[in-house]
Amino acid sequence: MRARSKHRKSTTWGCNAWSRVSMSTVVWSLIGCLLMLHLYSIVRQRDTIGGIRLHTSHHILLRELEAVEEEDIQIPPPKGKRSPHAAKRRPKRKTTLIDEFLDENSQLRNVFFPDEKTAIDPMKDVGDDSFYYFPARIWLDTEGNPIQAHGGGILYDDRSDMYYWYGEYKDGPTYQAHKDGPARVDIIGVGCYSSKDLWTWKNEGLVLAAEEKNETHDLHKSNVLERPKVIYNERTGKYVMWMHIDDANYTKASVGIAISDYPTGPFDYLYSKRPHGFESRDMTIFRDDDGVAYLIYSSEDNSELHIGPLTDDYLDVTNVMRQILIKQHREAPALFKHEGTYYMVTSGCTGWAPNEAMVHAADSIMGPWETMGNPCIGGNKMFRLTTFFAQSTFVVPLPGLPGFFIFMADRWNPPDLRDSRYVWLPLVVGGAADLPFEYSFGFPLWSRVSIYWHRKWKLPDVWKG
Ligand SMILES: *[C@@H]1O[C@H](CO)[C@@H](O)[C@H](O)[C@H]1NC(C)=O
Ligand SMILES: *[C@@H]1O[C@H](CO)[C@@H](O)[C@H](O)[C@H]1NC(C)=O
Repeated sequence: MRARSKHRKSTTWGCNAWSRVSMSTVVWSLIGCLLMLHLYSIVRQRDTIGGIRLHTSHHILLRELEAVEEEDIQIPPPKGKRSPHAAKRRPKRKTTLIDEFLDENSQLRNVFFPDEKTAIDPMKDVGDDSFYYFPARIWLDTEGNPIQAHGGGILYDDRSDMYYWYGEYKDGPTYQAHKDGPARVDIIGVGCYSSKDLWTWKNEGLVLAAEEKNETHDLHKSNVLERPKVIYNERTGKYVMWMHIDDANYTKASVGIAISDYPTGPFDYLYSKRPHGFESRDMTIFRDDDGVAYLIYSSEDNSELHIGPLTDDYLDVTNVMRQILIKQHREAPALFKHEGTYYMVTSGCTGWAPNEAMVHAADSIMGPWETMGNPCIGGNKMFRLTTFFAQSTFVVPLPGLPGFFIFMADRWNPPDLRDSRYVWLPLVVGGAADLPFEYSFGFPLWSRVSIYWHRKWKLPDVWKG
């Protein structure tokens, strides 16, 4: 109630011009509205994370991670004179940070793709930098090799009490299959790394390898294997991998399924199909608390997402499917759940170039899904409009830290895809959403999802992997 006495002091109520009265009415109405909103969000916080005490400790732990960190990156002046030929060809447009990012010869190259000298090496004594994530730096495994797990996802396996990171193993040359074709690396396979602390990663090898000779096989090296994700099936005791399977021109647009008795493979490749008879490109799978798993995929020329439950053995889709985020052109879905609400981060569709992330929420996983806006905070405007020059791939829940997640993204490097980097950042669910929804009478229905930029950060010390 401090606002009230302050207000009294600074306002003279005696000789009132009408304008002053209406001004103060407006101010009071505004304060009233803000109070209502604040109360509403407190009530909601109490509801959603079960009590103020947790809310407070949650905040102390995460204060550092929720600090807004700014970046000031200047675009360098052009290097020397452009050849008259190039000057003629190039439209006179201001160079943007995205141009610099995509330019292999940019003077900023080392800002976006720091060199080996700055690599994160968990086996070296790095003193105070232990356990720190440095987004976009080269990240070495326990044998000193750069981690190869792009477009990846993480499985927490409670049978071995280990985290497993699966992703595209892309340690091969980048080339174009034909003129105007997208940059590609031949399929090598799915890499797997294990960790207890989510920082020190041991290479478990290729758990699903490319097919070298059989040209009609889905995994023939000339094809495409992207975004592998693994979940465990309690009923069958099998680890099940789903992935995007395509040909070099992205016309096959299918999902592939593989299975193993162990998280470290080897996985047996079963088959591919177009789920529900539709094109399927970027995809992910999500296992809900009740054991039902879902496939989410970009379809209809990437203009919408489809979602549907898997069969009990997780080896196929059922015939239930909903079209969501229609005409929103989203890909790279990463789904997570907090206090009964489902959230999803997606990217736009601009090939390897970075673009703006959006977060979506739903009370029921099958929808309706509502778009809540851009979750990125900090960096600078370009960082926020490009998802920190990266693309979503997965969101890791951290048991013991409700409302706190690791956002995993890929900073693709189209001229040399094997050297694409990982951008891991803290993702926090809490506070009022930016955009109220049409049917919510101006009140936000869901909590805000925030992804905070940090040059370096680590998990709170209380968190033990
Ligand atoms: C090649 O792969 C196809 C598709 O998986 C399979 O049907 C065929 O038997 C394979 N051929 C050989 C020689 O393994
Ligand atoms: C991909 O497209 C190119 C150019 O249209 C064509 O030459 C090539 O045969 C296609 N490849 C496949 C695998 O469809």
